[in-house]
Amino acid sequence: MNASNPGANEISTARLLITGASQILTLRGKAPRRGISLCKLGIEKDGALLVSDGRILAVGPRAKVEAHPAAKNAEPLDLGGRVVLPGFVDSHTHLIHAASRAEEYELKIQGASYEEIARKGGGILNSVKKLRAATSGSLKTHARAALEEFASFGTTTVEAKSGYGLDVASELRILQLQRELAREQRVEIVSTFLGAHVVPAEFRGKVDGPQRYIALLLTQILPEVAAQRLAEFCDVFCDRGAFTRAESRKILSEGKRAGLAPRVHAEQLSRTGATQMAVELGAASCDHLEHVNAADVRALAKSNTVATLLPGCDFHLGWKQYAPARKLIEAGVIVALATDYNPGTSPTVSMPMVLSLACTQLRMTPAEAIVAATINAAYGLKRADRLGSLEPGKQADLAVFEVEDYREIPYYFGMQRCWMTMKSGEIIYMRD
Ligand code: NIG
Ligand code: FE
Repeated sequence: MNASNPGANEISTARLLITGASQILTLRGKAPRRGISLCKLGIEKDGALLVSDGRILAVGPRAKVEAHPAAKNAEPLDLGGRVVLPGFVDSHTHLIHAASRAEEYELKIQGASYEEIARKGGGILNSVKKLRAATSGSLKTHARAALEEFASFGTTTVEAKSGYGLDVASELRILQLQRELAREQRVEIVSTFLGAHVVPAEFRGKVDGPQRYIALLLTQILPEVAAQRLAEFCDVFCDRGAFTRAESRKILSEGKRAGLAPRVHAEQLSRTGATQMAVELGAASCDHLEHVNAADVRALAKSNTVATLLPGCDFHLGWKQYAPARKLIEAGVIVALATDYNPGTSPTVSMPMVLSLACTQLRMTPAEAIVAATINAAYGLKRADRLGSLEPGKQADLAVFEVEDYREIPYYFGMQRCWMTMKSGEIIYMRD
C-alpha cells in the first residue's frame, strides 16, 4: 500500500447512493488498456453508484444497485443529469516549487529557447535558487493552494516529484513537506525522488562536477530518502543538458536497489535512448517522448512501462512537435496523460485542459484521453487495484462534470466545468 501517504487510508463512513447521472463512466474491465481497449469507457446510462466507507460497494443499472441491501439507508445524491467518472490521476507533477517563471515565459515568447535560458542559469536552476531561499511555510502554502486547484478540476491523486532542491537538505525538505501535505489534506500524493533533475550550479564548471554531484546523490541523498521512506519512485531527467543515459541507468539502478521504482523523463528535448534504457530497467513510466523513434515505440509496446504524454509542455513552450500518440496507441503501448505541473514547461493543474490538448494535438479521441488520464495513469503509479475506475471494491474517487456527454469534457477548453470532486467517499470540491 501507500507507505508515504497514510492519509489515503482514512476513509469516510457515510453511505451514499448516487443516481441521476446522464452517464457513469465506469472504466470497468482489464487494466492497463492498450490499442483498441483504450477507448472502452464502460458507460452506464441509467445507472447508480453505491458508496460505503469510502469504497464503491456497487455500480451498474439503477434498479439493480437500488435493490442492494445496503442501499436502503444510504444518503441519496442526485447528479441532475451530469457525467461522473473516476477522479483524474495526475501521474506527473513537480508540485513543490517556490514561484512562477513568468519572466522566462516572456523571453521565450520573444524568441529565446528553453535550452538557451537554461544554459544561462535560468530554467530549472532558477527554480532551485528560488526554492532554496523560500521558507517551508511558503512552499507549503503554495502547494496547498495548488492541491485545492487540482481538486477543483476533478483530480483526486497526484504524483509529486522533488528536484528543485538538489542538495541534501533541500531535497529531503521537499519530500518531507509532501509527506506533511499528504497527511493534512485529501488529494492523495505519490512521492517521487528527482534528485537527478539537473546538475546544480555549485557543481558546474568544475573538474568532475557532474560525477561529484551524482556521488552526493547516491551516497547521501538517496539513502536518506529510502531510510525515511520519503518516496516510492526515483526519476531522472535523461536528456541533453541534464543526465546522460549511462548516468541515468546508474542512478535508477541504485534507486531500484534502495526500493524506489524507476520512472524517467525521456526524449523530451532530444533522442537519447532513455526510453529503451527505461524499458530494460522495468520502469513504471517513461514520460514526455516527443523524440521517440520506431524502435523506442516497439520496445514500449512489448513492455509494461507506461508512456506518459505531457502535451501541456509543448503547448506552453509553443512547440509544434508533440509526442506521436497515434503511433504509440496503434503499436499497443500503454498510454497515460498528465499535466507535468511545473513552473518552467507546464504551469497548469488542469487535467481537462490536458484532455483538450490530447484530442486536438495528439489526435486522441475523448474516450482514449479519459482512459489515459484515469486507469492507465493509476497503473503507472502502481495503484490500478485501488484507483482509476469505478468498480466494486475500489476507492470512491469521483469527478462529476457539468456536461451531458463525456465528449464535452475535452470539447470545452480552458473552462471550469468540474462540478464536484470526491475522494474516498468525501466531497473535496463542490462548485459554488
Ligand atoms: O518535466 N524536463 C524536465 N523537467 C520539467 C521541467 C522543469 C523546469 O523547467 O522547471 C519537465 O518538463
Ligand atoms: Fe516533468
